[in-house]
Amino acid sequence: MTRRILVTSALPYANGSIHLGHLVEYIQTDIWVRFQKMRGHECRYVCADDTHGTPIMLRAELEGITPEQLIARMHLEHLQDFTGFHVGFDNYYSTHSEETRFYANDIFRKLQSAGLIDVRPVEQFFDPVKNLFLPDRYVKGECPRCRSKDQYGDSCEVCGAAYSPTELINPYSAVSGATPVRKASDHFFFRLSDARCRDFLRQWTREPGRLQPEAANKLDEWLSGELSDWDISRDAPYFGFEIPGAPGKFFYVWLDAPIGYMGSFRNLCDRTGLDFEAFWDRDQAAREQTELYHFIGKDILYFHALFWPAELHHADYRTPTAVNAHGFLTVNGQKMSKSRGTFITAQSYLAHGLNPEWLRYYYAAKLNASMEDIDLSLDDFIARVNSDLVGKYVNIASRAASFLGRRFDGRLSTDSEQGSEGRGFPALQDAGQVLADLYETRQFSAALRLIMMATDELNQAFDRAQPWNLGKDPSKTAQLHSVCTQAINAFRILTIYLKPVLPKLAADVEAFLNVPPLTWADSRKLLPGGHPIREYRHLITRVEQRQIDALIEANRESMKAAPKPESHSQARHAESQVHHQPEVISIDDFGKVDLRVARIVDAEHVEGADKLLKLTLDIGTETRTVFAGIKSAYVPGQLKGRLTVMVANLAPRKMKFGMSEGMVLAAGDGTGLYLLAPDSGAQPGMKVK
Ligand code: MSP
Ligand code: ZN
Repeated sequence: MTRRILVTSALPYANGSIHLGHLVEYIQTDIWVRFQKMRGHECRYVCADDTHGTPIMLRAELEGITPEQLIARMHLEHLQDFTGFHVGFDNYYSTHSEETRFYANDIFRKLQSAGLIDVRPVEQFFDPVKNLFLPDRYVKGECPRCRSKDQYGDSCEVCGAAYSPTELINPYSAVSGATPVRKASDHFFFRLSDARCRDFLRQWTREPGRLQPEAANKLDEWLSGELSDWDISRDAPYFGFEIPGAPGKFFYVWLDAPIGYMGSFRNLCDRTGLDFEAFWDRDQAAREQTELYHFIGKDILYFHALFWPAELHHADYRTPTAVNAHGFLTVNGQKMSKSRGTFITAQSYLAHGLNPEWLRYYYAAKLNASMEDIDLSLDDFIARVNSDLVGKYVNIASRAASFLGRRFDGRLSTDSEQGSEGRGFPALQDAGQVLADLYETRQFSAALRLIMMATDELNQAFDRAQPWNLGKDPSKTAQLHSVCTQAINAFRILTIYLKPVLPKLAADVEAFLNVPPLTWADSRKLLPGGHPIREYRHLITRVEQRQIDALIEANRESMKAAPKPESHSQARHAESQVHHQPEVISIDDFGKVDLRVARIVDAEHVEGADKLLKLTLDIGTETRTVFAGIKSAYVPGQLKGRLTVMVANLAPRKMKFGMSEGMVLAAGDGTGLYLLAPDSGAQPGMKVK
């Protein structure tokens, strides 16, 4: 039976570049979709840019362009990134579209007539300079619990407290720096607290197959308490859709974002004649048994498993067949980090000439159906790709093809015994069913393990046949031909099994084998006797350590770069800066650097260090020890008592001579070094901004 399946990945924000973390999701989804298509099912994969909201509006303003220009540019960039990684959307659209607006209005009106929309005043921080209501993230101030400075309006990064922005001490607007004022305005709410929503969700989230067990447990937790109503409107100025009948009020970005799934699919339907209602109309979808799957990260489960099904259900649309959540990417066991160079963009990966299928293979080898985080260990990445893909899989083809080309005019043997003992490859071919189940249930790592076990066995069988010896004995020519033919046939079946993960490589193999695109069912058949293959060309290269090193180096953010180990210098050296074109950063980024006026209360030579001085710095509330690479320009006596500027929140660094707890700022172009100093009157501890 041909299934009719609609699949989505979460819509990436239009104000950020795609990075390797995002790609976990798009690669996972793409593998699943390609598998379904190879099975002969009617499967469509849609996505879009998530284009609305305050951050996009402000970023466009900062760049001096309109939001429309910004999202058009990002759309191109994102599409290039995805295409570069062979993510094969059937449609990649935008939430800033008439289709999405139509369904947003439609769903809103239906919820309104169902009595599930409320209007009530909300008091919020307002930036009197920008004339803008401030989202929580744009209000900063001191944490009401631990009094750490410069914390975001929703939570403290120091003590972990969660609070509302109005609780901050000395709040300020992260946009203008102005002190925000409290101001009330009417907001629209989706009444999630209504018993109809709770009852529906309690049932829906427990239906078998809808959610992974861990997700269902999370939902149970949320649903056991009271659900709060959801604020779905924002006041002008806002980049988004104005709410019908409510001038100056806009849908909150998260209201129209999932509706963007519908908008993108509607656009695809209009272009290709597909029937939208068959997938989204509740009754018709049930009659036609269409399926709908959302692939998302675990961070946005709340939106997809609570708000979204409740909205759809009460607006008479179908709900998702299942929501598939995955975990987060770590690199070398840690959160992706700009200073470590592990916050790697899709663009830079491709620009450095790394093969996208290496990453697809590695992610697939790590992915399962759970919400566990997945780790990209770079050493393991190199080892696994080189051993599995180059050493095992492609090796079969290259060895067999060289005999076939040289000795048999590139033709397969005509004797009927193409498989082992003339029966094909029963174990390998039967594995197709198990592998299909594993792909279907998103257990990609288990699938690849099985495929690589089979690959090992085939390599061993090839070795046991000793083709290099058969080749020397003219009476064994037919046997040699048969061994190589078997190897090529087995390689073709392995290629079918790997094709969802490695679509480009599979296409190259299809060209080499001289066959039309392989489908899953082709694994039941072998190539016909005498079939001509083409000349073997290199199918995939090894990953080299230096490629990874270059990639990490290129993604390392120089501002936070650790000092060069050989100099142990905590002062910023000019040499590393001169050729660096600084990127534009936001005021927020700048705000992360805690710059303080510091008094140098002591300065000493360091035994055994030819570039460093040991400084003791007073920053009002505490003293810090900093090893600074300024010995070439200053003698300790000159420095005592002087004021300078230090980075107070730099991660402490253990050095040969002790712990360095920050760095001092100095100017220089390689010829001289000049310590910064504030105007007189500045006091130790004062913030520099
Ligand atoms: N715009 C929203 C989604 C709206 S869906 C109607 C959003 N965008 S995002 O760009 O932040 O993330 C897009 C997807 O990528 C999300 O599913 C998110 O979980 C996933 N990932 C983003 N960073 C990730 C990692 N570091 N690791 C794994 N997935 C991550 O959320
Ligand atoms: Zn705190």
